[in-house]
Amino acid sequence: MDTDAPTQPSLPRLNEPAPDFKAPTTHGVKELSDYAGKWLVLFSHPADFTPVCTTEFIAFANAYDEFQAMNTDLLGLSIDSHFSHIAWTRTIKEKFEVEIPFPIIADLSMEVANAYGMIQPGESDTSAVRCTFIIDDKGLIRAMVYYPLANGRSIAEFVRLVKALQTSDEYDVATPENWQPGERVIVPPPKTAAGAAERLDEGYDCVDWWFCTKEL
Ligand code: BEZ
Repeated sequence: MDTDAPTQPSLPRLNEPAPDFKAPTTHGVKELSDYAGKWLVLFSHPADFTPVCTTEFIAFANAYDEFQAMNTDLLGLSIDSHFSHIAWTRTIKEKFEVEIPFPIIADLSMEVANAYGMIQPGESDTSAVRCTFIIDDKGLIRAMVYYPLANGRSIAEFVRLVKALQTSDEYDVATPENWQPGERVIVPPPKTAAGAAERLDEGYDCVDWWFCTKEL
């Protein structure tokens, strides 16, 4: 075994603690513990002053109040300097009349990007791909989404996903494809034969013992 081989950092996994960080941002130094008790959407973009990233930032800014109403902060990241971030966000304000209200990590050391597996050499060795991590109020990773360089994300999907995760936590339910707040939710299937036998008599709307929904 080659003991001199470089060790790969272990990548984040669902329901495990989010990798810790302390990093310079456009709003001063931020660390993961600053977000204790809040949900956090930590997202990377490939580079400042690029069109797809600009459309995503405008959409994140437009959804900022919706995220805040869900006790959720936003934190951007790219491997650019804070001078570049400041210049870019000022340009977005000037050209698109949109203020970017959330901080952006200037990850020139790539420390945060490497800890979160944001560098995908199949796409780029020097830029982060479009990663989105949803971290809950206990600091656990609850969702991870990786998009390539060329294709922008749907920010409405992350609003929906935070709401779905919080709804699952609060009511111990699952949510179906493209679930929207106010729609019926899925009752977790029974785990025992006895539970399956009882399920159809429990007052849910069931297609079968393993497929039951209810209103909240
Ligand atoms: C963009 O944001 O426009 C972009 C960034 C990197 C590669 C391709 C497009």
